[in-house]
Amino acid sequence: MLFVSVFLSFIGVATASRFAQNLVLHEKMDAIPEGFVQNGPAAESTTLNLRINLASTDITGLQEALFAVSTPHSARYGQHLTKEEVEAFVAPKSETIQVIKSFLRANGLTSKTISPAGDWLRVLMSVSKANELFGAQFSVFTNQASGQQTIRTMQYSIPTSLKGHVELIHPTVTFPTTFGQPRFTSPGIQVPLKDIFLVGNVVPASCATSVTPACLQALYGIPTARATQHSNTLGVSGFTGQFAQSADLQTFLRAQRPDLVNTTFALQTLDGGVNTQGAGSAGIEANLDIQYTVGVASGVPTTFISVGNDFQDGALDGFLDIINFLLAEAAPPQVLTTSYGQNENTISRALANQLCNAYMQLGARGTSILFSSGDGGVAGSQSESCTAFLPTFPSGCPFVTSVGATTGIGPETAASFTSGGFSNFFARPSYQSAVVSSFLTRLGSTNSGKFNTSGRGFPDVSAQGENIVIVNAGKTGSVSGTSCASPVFASVVSLLNDQLIAAGKSPLGFLNPFLYSAAGIGALTDITTGNNPGCNTNGFAAGIGWDPVTGLGTPNFPKLLTAVVSLGSCISRQLPTSPFLIQRS
Ligand SMILES: *[C@@H]1O[C@H](CO)[C@@H](O)[C@H](O)[C@H]1NC(C)=O
Ligand SMILES: *[C@@H]1O[C@H](CO)[C@@H](O)[C@H](O)[C@H]1NC(C)=O
Repeated sequence: MLFVSVFLSFIGVATASRFAQNLVLHEKMDAIPEGFVQNGPAAESTTLNLRINLASTDITGLQEALFAVSTPHSARYGQHLTKEEVEAFVAPKSETIQVIKSFLRANGLTSKTISPAGDWLRVLMSVSKANELFGAQFSVFTNQASGQQTIRTMQYSIPTSLKGHVELIHPTVTFPTTFGQPRFTSPGIQVPLKDIFLVGNVVPASCATSVTPACLQALYGIPTARATQHSNTLGVSGFTGQFAQSADLQTFLRAQRPDLVNTTFALQTLDGGVNTQGAGSAGIEANLDIQYTVGVASGVPTTFISVGNDFQDGALDGFLDIINFLLAEAAPPQVLTTSYGQNENTISRALANQLCNAYMQLGARGTSILFSSGDGGVAGSQSESCTAFLPTFPSGCPFVTSVGATTGIGPETAASFTSGGFSNFFARPSYQSAVVSSFLTRLGSTNSGKFNTSGRGFPDVSAQGENIVIVNAGKTGSVSGTSCASPVFASVVSLLNDQLIAAGKSPLGFLNPFLYSAAGIGALTDITTGNNPGCNTNGFAAGIGWDPVTGLGTPNFPKLLTAVVSLGSCISRQLPTSPFLIQRS
């Protein structure tokens, strides 16, 4: 029930400021999210650290440009936008800036710009001021599991004068989710973690039960030779203050990639991200992600980007900060892999939309953005008694590539935990409409009513995600989760980029229009067995063609290389440009 136009007015309130004006309801949560209890109003003097997102000059124009540079055979294929070109689309109109500035000035407030395009502002104000200006009731809520308290409001309004200029204010109605939640965040890892200590240093030889970089090279035809292009970088994002342990990486390389021993990774930190390298204090997720990028994308310069917890509260702030951080760079990484996410219904539609737009911006700059699809099957991280399937975020965003997990080698089959399904926020983009329609036709009435048939389907692709051998705190063991699959697919993309750049061509950038083209589909191995149970159902079944379990399938490096080197060739200029437009609700 967002964006319902109800007028509230502040009349005759003794303390109301003389600037009080008509308010229009902007965002509203219908119920307190599961797991939280309300403890009463927040203290009036508490300072809120609010982020205000301003309307962009031409976000539709940016979307058209993204598809023009990412769609094979488009005349502009591969001609990624510069920082300035992206910012020209995203920056607020001068009228918007005037309106917000005078609103803030009239209320004695100042703002700080926190995104390179100027579309995000940070404004500090007291709870009483925020309640008054935005018709809100900021209250204290407690997360029952963690005991952590947070200040949120169930709804807020904006002055009518700001309508059309302000997209959203955050944190307001989107409650914080802790990345420590089981399953999706540092997923299947939680159960198999025990194996690390039980198995000790014994790594079973067979790739059917124990997956190493050599297994992936054999299975997917991934080259072992070192990449040659120094300008081609692979970004690995880490959250919750995790860092990747350099010593564990060297132990891993000595055992699995002796030819890469002493290969290191660069580090960037934001939001107070740390990199103490204290023995045994690195994160398993971070170690997994760096070992399956440095150890698979042989010789590709890799950067671990450690996002700390110095935002007000809520991991989504870190999600936004890392993208704005990379957008501010002159040369952001050509590939970014992230093995974190959350249930889509834990985010307001407006916030999900603006995060998705941030991915659109980075994609237009030429970055391939990959996310793991989640580890709760069709249920997300709901309990088994759920009645409706729950998609994950940001996999439902049409501008990211969502990676599901497979297992086994003869042939590969879907990992049963792999999340997949259909977004409730984002409509189906045209790049996937044909294959998703075919899937829905084959599906018939199975699971009818449990998912949104018009939503963007995910995942897009998949890769091995069970029994992946890693080193953590000096010990060798194995972990499972779609967290494993995203770095592996990202490494494949980085090695393709290495060859493209060496040949004087553009890196791949936003992948999906290519992946769903005939050439892309033909270069992936379709996974046709397995399913992703949840909510007391068998979930969806993998089959011939795209499915919301394994997507289009797993990589075949030689075929992908053949397909991508022919992209952007001169023949494409004779073909008409057909931008894929996404209808957003
Ligand atoms: C790795 O670095 C160490 C320490 O600098 C050095 O002793 C060793 O020879 C190097 N190994 C390889 C394979 O380069
Ligand atoms: C289904 O998805 C569409 C977007 O494709 C959205 O507009 C609609 O609200 C969704 N329905 C539900 C019940 O969430």
